[in-house]
Amino acid sequence: MKYTITLVPGDGIGPEVTAAVVEIFKAAGLQIEWEPYMAGAQALLNYGTTLPKALLDSIEKNKLALKGPLTTPIGHGFASANAELRRVLDLYANVRPVRNLPGVPARYENVDIILIRENTEDLYSGIEHVVVPGVVESLKIITEKASTRIARYAFEWAQRSHRKKIAAIHKANIMKLSDGLFLDCCRRVAAEYQEIKYSEVIVDNASMQLILNPGQFDVMLLENLYGDIMSDAAAGLVGGLGVVPSANIGIDYAVFEAVHGSAPDIVGQNAANPTAILLSGLMMLDHIGETATSVRIYKALLSVLAERKSITRDLGGQATTTEYTAAIIQALEDEA
Ligand code: NAI
Repeated sequence: MKYTITLVPGDGIGPEVTAAVVEIFKAAGLQIEWEPYMAGAQALLNYGTTLPKALLDSIEKNKLALKGPLTTPIGHGFASANAELRRVLDLYANVRPVRNLPGVPARYENVDIILIRENTEDLYSGIEHVVVPGVVESLKIITEKASTRIARYAFEWAQRSHRKKIAAIHKANIMKLSDGLFLDCCRRVAAEYQEIKYSEVIVDNASMQLILNPGQFDVMLLENLYGDIMSDAAAGLVGGLGVVPSANIGIDYAVFEAVHGSAPDIVGQNAANPTAILLSGLMMLDHIGETATSVRIYKALLSVLAERKSITRDLGGQATTTEYTAAIIQALEDEA
């Protein structure tokens, strides 16, 4: 089967790590025509917008994209093209599996948590204004529609994946209306899935519990901001941002990307770890039904990681991005 897939190489280490995926997929025999597009700061410079129409048209046509990280200026400048892309394409579910990988040093063993994060609203609506000088208001938008939709997605996902427990994470003791509405929606949906154990944990306690005993969590269901923060914290439990993937799923489109950012501190050094974006690419293969190839690449990846001979600096190795990529391709060929 031939595929046409939109590719956003992105900023910083994005072009280095996405190139690794393109190479590995080719070596695995996948017939993919990639349509590369700029987004974010580069696109703003060249086309006057962070999300050019041609990019959106390409995703709308192909229904799929693999995306590298985009740099967002802090405290000033243009709004996040990442958040905007998720909103424009209504990619309402952000799925982040966090699990141990062999050979990757981690604080815990047997971590296997799926974080399912609402991806379109909350404080990420970006609605902020200066009320009077020295006073700023930032609006947290929580709707019944988006909360019910993400809760249903999480329960459906858990049921399909034979997961046993879902914990909704909230701060409804303080934000009684907004997080209260989120919880009401979660409870209503949970009542339809009696076989899945539903619980609620306040976000501050959940953060402590995650670090103390991550094994207690199975599926975590979160609003946008808590999901963003807790998924990075969870990544820290299994080896860091270089090894955690994510999928942004909507009704019509899906965009797959690593959890990490553009890593300006290591850009251009051939030092970036492409594992996270590769695992995101494997989620994309599963999504389109290329499961056998996904499993084959996963096995090759695991064998390289377990051997620890050709791993990148962030995992305690010496290999460059290109050496690590070559080792995975070699493992794929050895498997064949
Ligand atoms: P970051 O994830 O880029 O980097 C944090 C730390 O992790 C750095 O020390 C970096 O070297 C390391 N790291 C990240 N990915 C790595 C990889 N693949 N291999 C090895 N080491 C890796 O986070 P930071 O520095 O907070 O953000 C930099 C920029 O990225 C910001 O402009 C931010 O807005 C953007 N960003 C974009 C995201 C996206 O496009 N989805 C997500 C997160 C941040």
